[in-house]
Amino acid sequence: MDLDGKVAIVTGSGRGLGLAYARALAAAGAAVVVNDVDEGAVKEAVAAVTAAGGRAAGVTAAVGDSATADQLVETAVREFGRLDVLITSAGILRDRVLWKMSDEDFDAVIRVHLRGTFTCARAAAVRLREQGEGGRLILISSPAGQRGNFGQTNYAAAKAGIAAMARTWALELARNGITVNAVVPVAATEMTKTIPAFAPVIEESERTGEPLPAWLRRDEGMGTVDDVTGLITFLASDASAHITGQAIGIGGDRLALWAHPQEKAVAFADGGWSASSIGSAPIFGELETYGIPAPKQPGA
Ligand SMILES: NC(=O)c1ccc[n+]([C@@H]2O[C@H](COP(=O)([O-])OP(=O)(O)OC[C@H]3O[C@@H](n4cnc5c(N)ncnc54)[C@H](O)[C@@H]3O)[C@@H](O)[C@H]2O)c1
Repeated sequence: MDLDGKVAIVTGSGRGLGLAYARALAAAGAAVVVNDVDEGAVKEAVAAVTAAGGRAAGVTAAVGDSATADQLVETAVREFGRLDVLITSAGILRDRVLWKMSDEDFDAVIRVHLRGTFTCARAAAVRLREQGEGGRLILISSPAGQRGNFGQTNYAAAKAGIAAMARTWALELARNGITVNAVVPVAATEMTKTIPAFAPVIEESERTGEPLPAWLRRDEGMGTVDDVTGLITFLASDASAHITGQAIGIGGDRLALWAHPQEKAVAFADGGWSASSIGSAPIFGELETYGIPAPKQPGA
């Protein structure tokens, strides 16, 4: 897929999925602004993209601040003359159950994921609207944000908020030809490879160089970071112009379109519902499930 002439910002691209996105976009011809809080990782990422024949500029700064968002857009314009694509992949985890989660744990995760996505998307939207040639906002959400996840109050809230912002901005930016989608990735990275159900299999694959097993890639939709890059490159390209306001899952061999929340069962009572009549309303026949299903390893 050809991204020649396009300019992309990828937040959190010093390592993990963000680095894979930056490399893939550059390999497809885009110039990339690499961003991370880790200065060494930014330098290495820029060097890796450049060594592979791509074009990259680095910005070491923490997303969350408006100043960082402005710096990212300014760098894209100064170094490469324009902006076409923003990918918000920067992220941290501070997992605790609700009753043990501190204000600091909550605020730190909301700041990087939710505020970081908001501030970067706002700065990008201003620039893209000025250019008047459309654009792409690709926001990174998570299964935790779609379903809820034990120990992830802060992260699930931020990632659900990101999917909600994608739907909102898809409405607001449609007239400008700017598409906005949420991507729901699953891949073996520093963030996920310690998950107990996956850790031994990922370690084995890293040790032997063998591919991850088919049950993990298909049933759990868990693969390598490179398995996610095809969707990112597609969404960054002109070929995805008709796709906006969506939450799209990818991982391993699995590609999925997530449903948006909508009314599942409806009942009516003339004059309205009383507290006592609600308990026997027919809408509670089949309650919704919630939470990410526990991984099922064959034979375990
Ligand atoms: N790995 C998965 O399976 C998975 C699943 C769902 C969602 N995600 C999301 O994908 C994104 C990337 O995850 P990953 O697994 O590659 O994680 P990772 O921890 O490997 O990489 C995250 C990167 O973000 C950087 N970062 C942290 N705070 C930052 C900040 N304030 N500003 C700029 N950079 C910052 C880190 O230094 C790191 O390089 C995250 O948003 C994560 O929530 C990952």
